[in-house]
Amino acid sequence: MTTRGTPDVPEHAIEQQLIPYRNRLEAYLDKVLPAADTVPVVLHEALRYSTLNAGKRLRACLVYLTGEMFSALPVALDAPAAAVELIHAYSLVHDDLPCMDDDDLRRGKPSCHKAYDEGTAMLVGDALQSLAFELLGSIESADNALCPRLIHTLARAAGSQGMAGGQALDLAAQGKDPGLSSLQQIHAMKTAALIEAAVLMGAQTAGVTDNTQLQLLSDYANALGLGFQIRDDILDVVSDTETLGKQVGTDEISGKATYPGLMGLAAAKQSAKNAHQQANKALNQLPYDTQNLQMLADYAINRIY
Ligand code: IPE
Ligand code: IPE
Ligand code: MG
Ligand code: MG
Ligand code: MG
Repeated sequence: MTTRGTPDVPEHAIEQQLIPYRNRLEAYLDKVLPAADTVPVVLHEALRYSTLNAGKRLRACLVYLTGEMFSALPVALDAPAAAVELIHAYSLVHDDLPCMDDDDLRRGKPSCHKAYDEGTAMLVGDALQSLAFELLGSIESADNALCPRLIHTLARAAGSQGMAGGQALDLAAQGKDPGLSSLQQIHAMKTAALIEAAVLMGAQTAGVTDNTQLQLLSDYANALGLGFQIRDDILDVVSDTETLGKQVGTDEISGKATYPGLMGLAAAKQSAKNAHQQANKALNQLPYDTQNLQMLADYAINRIY
């Protein structure tokens, strides 16, 4: 096992291609996160503990690969890539709290509130969210509209009509059968919204303004996001803790609304395939070389951890 809490040999070809982007993102995060001996020391240690760990960095990779598809330079994509990963890391720290999913493990290690305490985990989420917007607010670009545009995109995706709203619906649906269209809405908000923001921020940084192209990118990201969360639900049923690096089998115990719970494993797998097809259909309408984004969708939806 690696520290990523995942198999030593990447099982999916694109993972080799993602390594430089992950390394780049992690070096950037290391630089922008305050040093662990900065006062308040425990908070800064916990911030680094919850961020500089074994994430797949899918959202950052989406920023880089989308931006590069439209010829943006990696250096211009670092801040948006880090910002979306910081929001994601905050969402995971809060998601694991006892008042939410009550998970003791995250990325192969004790969750933030287990390694530290619940108060610290709350504050880690708060501080990660602020840092994300601090990074976006510090972007200097010849295009004066870029900075507010990126802030708007990420804020909307993270808020009550995006990730946080989806988490609220997820909690409210616990122990109930929400039906397929409500479950789809939960997944769209809690997971796909941030994934959409990643893709859009990559395009916005590259200066894309064509509404048809932005809509196709949104369609791609929303389909990928839905498929990604369905795959997460499936892995909670079929993986073991060692492979996934987090507690598994807990969705059923806690009565989570999931695709396998609602329709069974085979139909959930088919739904993930359908989402994958939708993602590719959107990409095929873009007049660019979409090969990397296609591979990323394939990875997101067929991954084993
Ligand atoms: C986990 O996200 C939470 C979901 C939205 C399914 P990831 O599976 O991307 O988590 P990391 O960042 O790789 O740990
Ligand atoms: C998490 O979904 C979605 C978030 C917005 C954090 P899950 O609760 O299914 O994610 P895991 O399984 O804990 O990673
Ligand atoms: Mg959850
Ligand atoms: Mg959870
Ligand atoms: Mg899950």
